[in-house]
Amino acid sequence: MEIRGTTKLTGLFGYPVSHSLSPVFQNAAFEHLGIDCVYIPLEVKPENLEIAVEAIRVFNFVGVNVTIPHKRSIVNFMDEIDEEVEILGVVNTVCNKNGKLKGYITDGKGFVKSLKEEGKFTVKDKVAFILGAGGSAYAISGALVREKIGKIYIINRTYENGIKLKEHLKEKMKFTEVEVIPFEKRNERDYWKEADLIINTTSVGMKEGDVSLIEEKNLAYASFIYDIVYNRKTELIKSAEKLGIPHLDGISMLIYQGAISFEIWTGRKAPVDVMRRRLYQFLTGEGYNKKYGD
Ligand SMILES: NC(=O)c1ccc[n+]([C@@H]2O[C@H](COP(=O)([O-])OP(=O)(O)OC[C@H]3O[C@@H](n4cnc5c(N)ncnc54)[C@H](OP(=O)(O)O)[C@@H]3O)[C@@H](O)[C@H]2O)c1
Repeated sequence: MEIRGTTKLTGLFGYPVSHSLSPVFQNAAFEHLGIDCVYIPLEVKPENLEIAVEAIRVFNFVGVNVTIPHKRSIVNFMDEIDEEVEILGVVNTVCNKNGKLKGYITDGKGFVKSLKEEGKFTVKDKVAFILGAGGSAYAISGALVREKIGKIYIINRTYENGIKLKEHLKEKMKFTEVEVIPFEKRNERDYWKEADLIINTTSVGMKEGDVSLIEEKNLAYASFIYDIVYNRKTELIKSAEKLGIPHLDGISMLIYQGAISFEIWTGRKAPVDVMRRRLYQFLTGEGYNKKYGD
């Protein structure tokens, strides 16, 4: 990639940002399509967010991604927001059209797209078990409802947060086929007989030594398991492999949510295979084909 006088800018606002994988696959996509644009990590302290948003206009950025801790606070600085941002109150993608900034959230759409395209799993009328009731659980459950999921069970450590998500789905999305299973009852077997899709949206699995929230015997009923944690192979994913259940990890969602951001900025179809291959090369240092057999 050659940076020239004409090169346009995109990047990631976050604090910290040094761990981010997005520059790897976004720049691979620009390079592959010959788009004269670069994606850079931009460390923005919370107190500098407003001035950083102004810099999007000043430097005529095509757009930016937004991560922790700015996803909620940046909404206040947008000229326009997408319909889904109105419901969720968070932004992970900003698009700059002649100085007008529009905020989008691509997490839920990216999740569902990865499930369809990479997982070959159809959501309609299925029963999903969602572990967690944090930010990503809101985005993912909303996207599942849009895809006409049949029923959602929520399991969350803090029961009240599970109930809040249930109420959110009822009020904002008019979805009533939703139940909260108390955390301490999560391994009671009867529930799991209904499971088609199990999704871990908690941060459990990120750390070495984290054990899976669900006993392995209860996973066997599922036809698909998705763990959105992406920094390591979790015990949940290891169990899915052992049981021979089709599964995806958080790398897939990461790439697809980034691919949607790319499409918003460029109007071009994102080269998802190129983005994925470059990221796996980066992560393994060995090459995608060798390590992952795709
Ligand atoms: N692949 C991707 O593209 C992608 C995108 C977004 C996020 N993620 C990953 O998703 C995970 C969650 O992110 P988030 O933004 O949704 O976080 P969040 O809003 O902070 O929510 C965290 C959730 O995890 C639960 N939790 C935390 N520690 C737990 C524990 N020890 N035992 C049981 N439950 C626990 C919390 O339960 P309480 O309500 O009880 O606190 C809450 O439901 C992170 O690993 C993040 O990296 C991946």
